[in-house]
Amino acid sequence: STSSAKAVAHTNIALIKYWGKKDSQLIVPYTSSLSLTLDKFYTETSVRFDPTLPDDIVKIDHQEVAGKSWQRVHDFLTIVRNLAGMKDHAEVISHNQVPIAAGLASSASAFAALAAAASKAAGLTLSSKDLSRLARRGSGSACRSIFGGFVEWRRGTNDLDSYAVPLKQSALNDVAIVALTVEKKHKAVSSREGMNRSVTTSPYYPTWVKVAQNDLSDLKVAINANDFTKFGNISELNAMRMHALTLSAAPDFMYFNGETLTAMNEVKRLRHDGIECYYTIDAGPNVKVLCQQANLDAIVSRFTKLLGQERVAVVHAGPGVHYL
Ligand code: DP6
Repeated sequence: STSSAKAVAHTNIALIKYWGKKDSQLIVPYTSSLSLTLDKFYTETSVRFDPTLPDDIVKIDHQEVAGKSWQRVHDFLTIVRNLAGMKDHAEVISHNQVPIAAGLASSASAFAALAAAASKAAGLTLSSKDLSRLARRGSGSACRSIFGGFVEWRRGTNDLDSYAVPLKQSALNDVAIVALTVEKKHKAVSSREGMNRSVTTSPYYPTWVKVAQNDLSDLKVAINANDFTKFGNISELNAMRMHALTLSAAPDFMYFNGETLTAMNEVKRLRHDGIECYYTIDAGPNVKVLCQQANLDAIVSRFTKLLGQERVAVVHAGPGVHYL
């Protein structure tokens, strides 16, 4: 007999970045990280296990996928099958509600939704902690998308104790993010390859491990104190510290392009003009601007002039994973 489930998970943006695996097989990171789950961008995934299927079928945004992407989903489904003690293959149908170009079409929402839908369809009833651990096996950042709002991924030391937890606070809840789409000139180094290269070749990596821990505890203090200035400064600094690991790797690489720098400079100009905002950047050229609701309109209008309306999106805090 067949059994199916459908889940929705939202993307998250890291304010304290995850950058480096201590265990690449199980995806256990060197450092803890902290993110905000977003409202507008999400992945909706249904999984149906069917004993008559000769192999797994994966359809993403109406396209059947093969090769590397298929393999990654297949490997993840095998983890779920082993947990559930079953052998059936599955059909996975996934839709992204993300402007792909916004660079927020992350593996985070994809594997969080897949973890929830696949585990339920396989007959497992997982706690949110175990769901977070499972999502982590697909993509590290996915373990944070199980929860809404501010979320901390506690690095732990092994498969059992590396998972995300939601922060208990309700402070700093008027944070808004202006997501800027920057033109991609060429294919970036994947985050998987990029973090591996940083860990193995950047002489600054051991320093990152120390500093990221302090950044994280400072950011938690700022969130609990409802201190947006501190929150923004620490987030911006931590992002740049992560990118310093790409510049100092061998061979070196860089996720910024000319437009990224233009957007970063604009954020600094806005700040100089008394409109408080900060930037954070992931493994790509896009810039996410952190601000408070009161300054949102001014910031949106400045970037709309600079980049055009279709490249400026406003997002807020969003919910954790849920079933449909
Ligand atoms: C820069 O979670 O995509 O966005 O675990 O290899 O799948 P894998 O990596 P992934 O890396 C995210 C890197 C980042 C920072 C972050 O989200 O914390």
